[in-house]
Amino acid sequence: MDSKNKAEIFDVTENASATERALAFEKACRVLQTGHLVGIPTETVYGLAGNAFDLNALTQIFQAKERPLFDPLICHIAEPEGKNIDILSQLDESGLIDNEKLTDAARQGIQALISVYWPGPLTLILPRGKRVHDLVTSGLDHVAIRMPAHPAAQELLKRCQFPLAAPSANRFGRISPTQAAAVFQELGDRISMILDGGQCQFGLESTVVRFRETGEPVVLRLGALPLSQIESIVGANAITASANEKLASPGTHHTHYAPRKPLLISDSLLPSELTEEQAATYHWLQKKIGILRFRAEPPQFESVHHSYTLSSLNGFREAAQNFFKTLRALDMAPVDVILAESPFAHLGISKTSGLNSENLRSGLGFALEDRLKRASSGYFKMSSSS
Ligand code: TXA
Ligand code: MG
Repeated sequence: MDSKNKAEIFDVTENASATERALAFEKACRVLQTGHLVGIPTETVYGLAGNAFDLNALTQIFQAKERPLFDPLICHIAEPEGKNIDILSQLDESGLIDNEKLTDAARQGIQALISVYWPGPLTLILPRGKRVHDLVTSGLDHVAIRMPAHPAAQELLKRCQFPLAAPSANRFGRISPTQAAAVFQELGDRISMILDGGQCQFGLESTVVRFRETGEPVVLRLGALPLSQIESIVGANAITASANEKLASPGTHHTHYAPRKPLLISDSLLPSELTEEQAATYHWLQKKIGILRFRAEPPQFESVHHSYTLSSLNGFREAAQNFFKTLRALDMAPVDVILAESPFAHLGISKTSGLNSENLRSGLGFALEDRLKRASSGYFKMSSSS
């Protein structure tokens, strides 16, 4: 572990002076150069960063997060200086990827996405280069690469001059942090330094995409970049990988992003409309309920103690930004169970009818639903075994 002391938080937002920011980046670089870890802001969620070429730093990432070694890491890279730079060639030269292993069809799609969405919330799975350590890829022959857009992440990457391996800065399986204070809660006793870049703009992790040799894009993890925006560039229907597909991401576990409290998802927050199983659980618990809803409406349960609305405008973008922060707040609040509204409930769409509609498929609703389902699965296990 990095430090027995509590992590120090350094403000690198516009509230800090240019000198304070410069000193913070300098110190962060030193920490990273000596093989230690720094909590860093990105536009999606906060990351736990270490030098991707340093075995000691990589080992510390897995230890600090208590993450299993089969779950590979994303390498974050600096935006190149200058125009018309062939990023894939540059990545090849730096030993991160093996450009020659890409088929022309795949390369074409990848380049098209890079030119529009990098820097941004898109992670690409590319053939692994010779400098990439086994710990980064969990021994796979492909490596995940992302060019973050957050100015503080970019400033740090440019100063360090090495790629940063950075998973989300939460303990394994827990809620991803979207504020520096949340990183402190998760890892404050395990790392020495956190850069505070403010609230994350997107609030959900990057979308992870891999291309088949034939050039079809496969989405391995739904995320902040909606499917429709990928399809608008590559002109094909982006396929969402199912858990048992060979290409699927090893880290997309069924239970993930989970609060410590039991979480139950419902299409409706009306007590009369709960399913039998949900109602049984609700009575079994007979406890204080915290509500997570997507729209502003008065709570319907008598025992509701806390009710949080993710979006005042009923928009998925705003809901995504607030999602993990609110889940964390509910986890800390004096409630015993969290009842979450399905993201599609407020659109008046039942699960069986409208989910395939093009309109919904394109938005962030699916990424939100994915995170909610993973946050809740531990609960159902608990209720069926009790
Ligand atoms: O937005 C994000 O992506 C954030 C910020 C910090 O950049 N990072 C993040 O990292 O979410 P993490 O480690 O929590 O999730 C990485 C995901 C996992 O689902 C992992 O399985 C997948 O990316 N992944 C990483 N390397 C892979 C590879 N070589 N092949 C397939 N999937 C990979
Ligand atoms: Mg994560």
